[in-house]
Parts: sequence; C-alpha cells; structure tokens
Amino acid sequence: MSDGEEASPGADGPPPGGARVVAQGLRRDHGHGILALDGVDLTLEPGEFVALTGPSGSGKTTLLSLIGALDRPTSGSIAVDGVALHDHDFDRARYHQEVVGFVFQHHHLLTHLSARANVELPLVPTMHRRTARRARAAELLEEVDLGPRVGELAAHLSGGERQRVAVARALANEPRLLLADEPTGALDSAAAHRVLDLIADVRARRGTTVLVVTHDPLVAARADRVLHLHDGRLVDRPAELRAGSEQLSA
Ligand SMILES: Nc1ncnc2c1ncn2[C@@H]1O[C@H](COP(=O)(O)OP(=O)(O)O)[C@@H](O)[C@H]1O
Ligand SMILES: [Mg+2]
Repeated sequence: MSDGEEASPGADGPPPGGARVVAQGLRRDHGHGILALDGVDLTLEPGEFVALTGPSGSGKTTLLSLIGALDRPTSGSIAVDGVALHDHDFDRARYHQEVVGFVFQHHHLLTHLSARANVELPLVPTMHRRTARRARAAELLEEVDLGPRVGELAAHLSGGERQRVAVARALANEPRLLLADEPTGALDSAAAHRVLDLIADVRARRGTTVLVVTHDPLVAARADRVLHLHDGRLVDRPAELRAGSEQLSA
C-alpha cells in the first residue's frame, strides 16, 4: 500500500461506538478429527460486554481468531456491521486497522521497545506524522495510568503494566470491537482488576463492543452476558455445573 493515499481516521474522527457481530453456524475443523468449533451461532450487540468461558481446548481462542479474521471458518459466516468477513472483497488489513483491537493473554509486546513505541506501531498505517503518533501513544498510555512510564522498555515493566500497554495498543485506532483472550490470566488479582476496570471504562466511554475470554468469575460478573463453550459448542451452563449435574443424573 502506498503511503499517504488513504484517509486517516486518526484521533479526530467521530466517536467509534460499537460494532455489531453476527456469527452463524461457525465450524472450524483442523482435520485429524479435531473440530475446534462445531456450529456456533452468536450475536454481539453494539456496546455489549460479553464474557466467554469454557475449559481448555473448548474453542475459545478459535472463536476469537475467527471473529478477529486471524483465521477462517471451515463453514459458517461472520458479519461485522453487515460486512461479511468471507467476502472476496473483504479488506482484512483495514479491518485490523480500523475495526478490531486484540489483547492477548501474554501481551505480545516487543520487549526491546519502549511502552510508547509499542503503542505507536499500530498507528503507523493510519497516522503518517511521527510526532502525532508519539503524542497519541503518550495520551493512550496516560489513559491506562502509565504516563510516567512511556519511555520505559517493555522488558522492564511488570506483568500488569505490560498488559495495560497491550490494552493501550489495542485501543490505538479506536476499534469498534475489542477482543481479549484471557487478558488477566497471567496477572495477580489487583493487576487484573486494573486491566478490567480499563476495559469496562473504554466500553462505557466509547460504546465499544467487548468480547473477553476469561476463567475469572469476577470478569464474568461484570459482563452483560456470559457465554459458555464446551467441545466447540455454546452451552447454557458452565462445564463445571454440567459435569456436576451429569454425575447427579447418572
Ligand atoms: N492450528 C491448530 N491446529 C490443530 N488444532 C488446533 C489448532 N488450533 C487449535 N486447535 C485445537 O482446537 C481445539 C480448540 O482450541 P482453542 O480454540 O485454542 O481452545 P481454548 O482457547 O478454549 O483453549 C483444541 O483441541 C486445540 O488443540
Ligand atoms: Mg485459548
């Protein structure tokens, strides 16, 4: 892509609000009998904060990867704000730049770069002026209470601080949809709370649609809705309770 041609959404665009996500009949077959998702139907309304739980291997990361267009379903469809992700003219790069933000379990920061440089990276395609990017990154880090740490190497930050940088990075382009895969899984509870407060605050201020994978009952308690995956299907109760009731009825 050549530089400078596209309109830049930058920081001055309209408030983004939240995306609407409609997934239908999602299947993801990895072959060798591994069916990671087995017919998932899911709608996320704009501005909803939805928690996704499920045992290890139940398909949570796969579902996030499909909605985030990091992977493709074997069958089924996903539309975000009416745009089908499988359409031949779907602009994946633009989707990643302008619509969706990711927070991974293990931050995925570049540890040899400063907090600010990490947050600047996703701004490179959308904000052409370095000074503007630096200012925007500093502002985002301020928002996650890391103002004084902007110049610190990511390698020197604590786990909680890194995860807050990861949230700032995910928010850099004001996504309409925030996908977070166990973002607090590696944190102690105080640090986890700060990250969650941040995500909840972003949702409240910007109306961002949020889908968070979590094992943490505290996260689930703060969500508008909790979804449970089991063996690649959405079920109406968490796996622990299902196991309990299956034993009772056995
Ligand atoms: N790239 C892949 N190739 C083969 N199998 C995979 C791949 N990614 C995930 N799986 C399998 O799909 C299932 C769901 O995985 P995943 O979505 O990572 O679950 P979760 O995030 O709930 O732990 C698991 O059985 C996992 O081993
Ligand atoms: Mg996972």
